[in-house]
Amino acid sequence: MPTERTVPEELLRKQYEYIDLIAARNAEAAKTSGRRPRAVAHTFGCQQNFADTERIAGMLSEMGYDLSDDVNDAELILYNTCAVREHAESRALGNVGALTHVKKAHPETVIALCGCMVQQKQVAEKVKKSYPHVDLVFGTHALWRFPELLFRTLAENKRVFDISGDEKGEIAEGLPVLRGKGARAWLSIMYGCNNFCTYCIVPYVRGRERSRCPDAIEKELRELVAAGYKDITLLGQNVNSYGKDLDDQLDFSGLLRRLDAVEGDYLLRFMTSHPKDASPRLFDTMAECRHVAKQLHLPFQSGSDEILARMNRGYTAAHYCELIAYAREKMPDITLSSDIIVGFPGETEEDFQKTLSLVRGVGFDMLYTFLYSKRSGTPAATYPDSASKEEKQGRFDRLLNAQDETVAGRQAAYLGKRLRVLVDGEGKSPEYPFAARTEGGLLVCCAGDGLKTGEFAEVEIDKTTLRCLFAHKIKP
Ligand code: SAH
Ligand code: SF4
Ligand code: F3S
Repeated sequence: MPTERTVPEELLRKQYEYIDLIAARNAEAAKTSGRRPRAVAHTFGCQQNFADTERIAGMLSEMGYDLSDDVNDAELILYNTCAVREHAESRALGNVGALTHVKKAHPETVIALCGCMVQQKQVAEKVKKSYPHVDLVFGTHALWRFPELLFRTLAENKRVFDISGDEKGEIAEGLPVLRGKGARAWLSIMYGCNNFCTYCIVPYVRGRERSRCPDAIEKELRELVAAGYKDITLLGQNVNSYGKDLDDQLDFSGLLRRLDAVEGDYLLRFMTSHPKDASPRLFDTMAECRHVAKQLHLPFQSGSDEILARMNRGYTAAHYCELIAYAREKMPDITLSSDIIVGFPGETEEDFQKTLSLVRGVGFDMLYTFLYSKRSGTPAATYPDSASKEEKQGRFDRLLNAQDETVAGRQAAYLGKRLRVLVDGEGKSPEYPFAARTEGGLLVCCAGDGLKTGEFAEVEIDKTTLRCLFAHKIKP
């Protein structure tokens, strides 16, 4: 199973030795304090970051920490940060700033930052200088060395910074993982991104594309299914380029088919797909694989070909629409979602109109809309910009209105329909006490005897709103 990309076993074993050393310290401390030490591990970024936090939580748990949400009563606080937009950074830094009070009250609490934001040199420098209460900083590539870095922080009683790069493109297999209790699980199939969209910081902070080997992915899927997870999302910045860096000729469609053969009652989703690499072959595969949810998140970013070219996206609006038409032909009930950036440098009203018309033309079930945020170090940060802040905000609001009009119609079309849903949480009202997801990922609040969290159920839709479907369980 190991490839030349996999972190050698002896190096990983070293990390387990550090885990044991920290566990011994924690057991000793627990004798004095009368309780196990607590750790907070909070994610500020995307699902990929969340999956990383689950690995860190797994390591923390093996070190003898109990995971908690209370920063005022923790021996260790770790924030896993995001850099994708300025807002994500200011939110993370604001929260880090607020921890000065915690550090004052409990100087022994270790404060750690990791993830995409601190992988940027200038931000790590800023943290070093302006946030002296932060003890440990490590980037995305050092994640698997967390036990060693934490041990050094604790034992040497000094600040530790490791934001080294990833020239070798390493993948660490076999790290412990602590997952949530619900029915959903995240499964990373690849790391990094090679696309260099001109607005995006991700390739700079996550390194080059590297695919996990299919054996490791299948093994993890089997473990998840055996553990009872029923809604499993395969993760990568651009899953369609899975396997390009591996020798064994397996592309993403091939991987999906291989995973689909794993027995069990579960759904497989994946994100994110890139329109430049999504193909009819992928949609054929989706249609034919029984576990693969008929749901597609396919970000198009802009409806204007000029903007798409300047974004370095590698497709046109017409190509995007062709892909959608093919996907709908193969899977008429498919649920579609997308990401859009409003206010990219140089975007004119005419460009924006093209985005609006694509949104109206396709009819998405969900949209994630973002105002362009300048990221230093990316090419677009130097592009001239003419539209004012107010103009961009105006476009953003119009886009949301157009989307709401579409969604209202699409949601209403579900009235009276019978669907299979996966119950995965609490509903919005006593009348509909359960929350569930359709195969397409839509939120359904459900009522009815015998509904159980973590199980599939057949329901009939009673009413619909913009954000939620309401349903009752069909009696068997
Ligand atoms: N790899 C995925 C998602 C990357 S980040 C993809 O390619 O689709 C998620 C979304 O954030 C992107 O799709 C994009 O819409 C948005 N985004 C990325 N950089 C941004 C920036 N500088 N400003 C505003 N939105 C941005
Ligand atoms: Fe960023 Fe583009 Fe890569 Fe997505 S595909 S992570 S938007 S560079
Ligand atoms: Fe994700 Fe943010 Fe990093 S979107 S990959 S956590 S920059």
